[in-house]
Amino acid sequence: MIELKGKPVADSVFTEITNQLTLFTEKKWAMPHLVVVLVGENPASEVYVSHKEKACQKLNFKSTLVKLPETATESDVRQTLEKLNQDQSVDAVLLQLPLPAHLDSKKLTEVIYPNKDADGLTQASLGALMAGQQKVASCTSAGIIKMLEFYNINVVNKKVVVVGRSLIVGLPLFHLLLQKNATVTLCHSKTENIKQVLQDADVAFVAIGKPNFFKATDFKKGATVIDVGIHRLPEGLCGDVNPESAAGHLSAMTPVPGGVGPMTIAMLMKNTMTLALENRIG
Ligand code: GUN
Repeated sequence: MIELKGKPVADSVFTEITNQLTLFTEKKWAMPHLVVVLVGENPASEVYVSHKEKACQKLNFKSTLVKLPETATESDVRQTLEKLNQDQSVDAVLLQLPLPAHLDSKKLTEVIYPNKDADGLTQASLGALMAGQQKVASCTSAGIIKMLEFYNINVVNKKVVVVGRSLIVGLPLFHLLLQKNATVTLCHSKTENIKQVLQDADVAFVAIGKPNFFKATDFKKGATVIDVGIHRLPEGLCGDVNPESAAGHLSAMTPVPGGVGPMTIAMLMKNTMTLALENRIG
């Protein structure tokens, strides 16, 4: 079984961005500028945000963290985002999710201008994706497509199954795979026969957010499995798929940690670069 590691793919994305940055130096443009808005004190979010800042430093991007208290109102977050929309020095804005329970993440994400939408999560960005006209797509789903390209996993006319329909992974991934000419089935929490559907899948993408929910033999023999889940259990990190007995059953699988994880940050940098370039050359 081949282990599909994210690090070499993420490194290749960083190299691509570094090459694009030479144009910024040549033209004496301001470096791409990403602003992350973090509301409250979710420990996992704080870790993600620090990774994002480190990635910006590594590339010499400008990075700003706007921290709002747990008690911030909808109007506080809205005003913060509107100010960033108007700020010409800002290329990309990311509203870190999840938000505290009293805030509506869909409504607030929608405040971000589509041309600054680092996550591709506004309705305009999602609509563009459905029409095959997206500038950026959600970082994790775009990162998974990069992994397929890097490891030469061809999905044209393959039966692929996505498990999970979140706006941040499952749904954008469904559209990106369709754009790659895969035959895509999307399963979700109300699908009754997921394991039966999986028995038919050449490539399966699992993003349901439940630790060790699937076992290797739930998939077809020789399938490729992309595990998007990441969970912190007392015994360590694990994904949505239990890798036990995967070696003799699957052709390829992403490890957790070290599989899809590193791609999310790399693609956030790539999306920031894409929006910064759009901003400068239109
Ligand atoms: N929380 C965990 N992952 C993500 C992501 O990719 N984008 C946003 N906005 N929040 C997240």
